[in-house]
Amino acid sequence: MGEREQAESVRRSADVKRAAEILRGGGVVAFPTETVYGLGADASNSAAVRRVFEIKGRPATNPVIVHVADIESARQCVSVWPEAAHKLAERFWPGPLTIVLPKADSIVPEVTAGGETVGVRVPDHPLALEMLRKFAGSAVRDWKTPALRSNAATGVGVAAPSANRSSHVSPTTAQHVYDDLGDEVDLILDGGPCGVGIESTVLSLATPIPTVLRPGGVGVEQLYEVLDKIEILGGSDSGIAASPGRLERHYAPQARAIAFATEERGRVPADGRDIALVALSPLDLPQPSECGTIIAMPNNPQRYAEHFYRILRALDVMNVREIWIELPPDEQRWHAVRDRILRASSKTY
Ligand code: TXA
Ligand code: MG
Repeated sequence: MGEREQAESVRRSADVKRAAEILRGGGVVAFPTETVYGLGADASNSAAVRRVFEIKGRPATNPVIVHVADIESARQCVSVWPEAAHKLAERFWPGPLTIVLPKADSIVPEVTAGGETVGVRVPDHPLALEMLRKFAGSAVRDWKTPALRSNAATGVGVAAPSANRSSHVSPTTAQHVYDDLGDEVDLILDGGPCGVGIESTVLSLATPIPTVLRPGGVGVEQLYEVLDKIEILGGSDSGIAASPGRLERHYAPQARAIAFATEERGRVPADGRDIALVALSPLDLPQPSECGTIIAMPNNPQRYAEHFYRILRALDVMNVREIWIELPPDEQRWHAVRDRILRASSKTY
């Protein structure tokens, strides 16, 4: 390690230690994960979790995911740990899979929106893991305090929604977090740009058949490596495309986003300096386009996901009025990306 790398690593580890201390003290920390940045608070501290909801402007009815450092810690956040959960955790953690199970008593109702289940995951990011380990490590020491022993998961998990203002595009850099939340957060831990770029897959094991509640970083075809039967909430997205108005507006830019299928390329306005076209590569337009901005997205679901939110935020900064987004094919591997495009464009006027 060179001198500069060494100095950088010392600074990082001091920042991570500080982040864990702030969380222990009931504060709020934005931190990097492999998917998007999270806005974290101690999952056993009601006041701290309420502050996360306030900062985001998030409705109290939407539960948040609890982040932990390892399987052992995850087990302390839930009241049952079925075989399927163990297999999934061993196969996909650390990684972009959230598993929903009946909650442990220590998880406060603010985390689960009053519900009996909790979503848990181990994020795949070195800074997040180090922060969670330090946070939980001090919790283990606290266990020796008899008053805390009855509450097994105290300080083990960090409840964190994405670190954006509610219904805005999720942040994939520390700067995005700052742009949305500014100084309202006690600390923003900078771990560079997120590699996955869209949120985790949320899978419920609290239902008779494992159910995908939100498509994300782990594809359904990957889940089939471990599970025999899977239900997908809402089924295929093709029905959603037909009536985007019914879709909750989510992950949306300020500009009006319009999703279109490749066959509908003719609908894209031919001119307009304040219009942006986000197309799949290779670009194949029926006529020359004079859209102010044309972006050719990678024709690969993982690479597409990595850049999508960053592109939406960049276009917002450029004050474009409309963003025309070409939908990738209606195939399983594009499921999560299509979901995010349709949600971004579900704004109705
Ligand atoms: O990748 C991610 O999941 C990121 C990073 C920070 O981990 N987090 C994230 O959190 O996207 P958020 O709060 O923006 O989205 C959490 C999703 C919501 O759709 C929520 O309804 C669902 O997970 N969820 C959380 N707990 C749940 C539960 N107990 N039952 C059902 N759905 C749950
Ligand atoms: Mg979110």
